[in-house]
Amino acid sequence: MFDLHNKVVLITGAGGGLGRAFAQAFAGAGTHVVAADRNEAGAAETAQLIGGLAVGVDVTNEASLQQMVQTVLDNYGKIDVLVNNAAIYATITRKPFYELTEAEWDGVMSVNLKGVWLCSKVVVQAMIERAKTQNVGARIINIASATVMSGSPNWSHYVASKGGVIGLTRSMAKELGGFNITVNAIAPGFTLTEASLNLMDNAQQYGVDRGAIKRPSTADDITGTALYLASPLADFVTGQTIIVDGGKQFI
Ligand SMILES: NC(=O)c1ccc[n+]([C@@H]2O[C@H](COP(=O)([O-])OP(=O)(O)OC[C@H]3O[C@@H](n4cnc5c(N)ncnc54)[C@H](OP(=O)(O)O)[C@@H]3O)[C@@H](O)[C@H]2O)c1
Repeated sequence: MFDLHNKVVLITGAGGGLGRAFAQAFAGAGTHVVAADRNEAGAAETAQLIGGLAVGVDVTNEASLQQMVQTVLDNYGKIDVLVNNAAIYATITRKPFYELTEAEWDGVMSVNLKGVWLCSKVVVQAMIERAKTQNVGARIINIASATVMSGSPNWSHYVASKGGVIGLTRSMAKELGGFNITVNAIAPGFTLTEASLNLMDNAQQYGVDRGAIKRPSTADDITGTALYLASPLADFVTGQTIIVDGGKQFI
């Protein structure tokens, strides 16, 4: 079984927004949280809030990721849960796909899709080693987006990157099941964070009328699903994408 108490949870993009909310939720569940972000000041603030560890990292850089893993192992000796949350979201360039430059496309893909693969590739080595030597499983939770299910104008690079995350999640789950490592994705709908509030004027009401539950989503609406996926309740759940959007999309 997979008890959350004293587990070590590594969260990328934890310098603010949803990543910080995941950090607070996991800390509240008795885990040791490592807040990793390229925004080192934000990660340090998160770590201070929860009494965790902050690490600076660029998820597109293998050497940086290896250094991050070494820091976690030096401090805690293991990684039980990885939450791949870092993404280009707040700072994304929004325009029709036929006006995007290659640099804009590649920049988003590099963090949002390659970053999830590369971070998982580096982190999973320690998870596999532990599975082989101690027969202990682990969890990977990838943060996708519900917008994959509907598409979104001016967000094609973002939507494509998150669609890739869902496919990657399924393949990783198939490869890692034998090590008792589950891999799942959470697809949040539009959720009020510092980032999304700055994205549009009507953020508080955006999409509310399309939901079955007619109120805006906050980070607290998303974190419970991450705790569930990391918990013993989800021992036999892998390769899945759980949409958490108050009933705007159904698949
Ligand atoms: N909020 C929503 O409505 C919503 C909906 C669906 C899905 N999501 C997903 O939820 C996650 C968090 O969203 P959020 O609203 O909290 O957005 P956010 O504030 O933009 O969080 C993303 C974090 O990732 C960091 N990051 C970017 N590139 C990185 C890199 N190369 N290496 C390490 N860290 C990097 C960012 O740092 P910088 O500040 O330096 O860029 C930022 O701290 C993202 O995966 C997003 O796509 C959000």
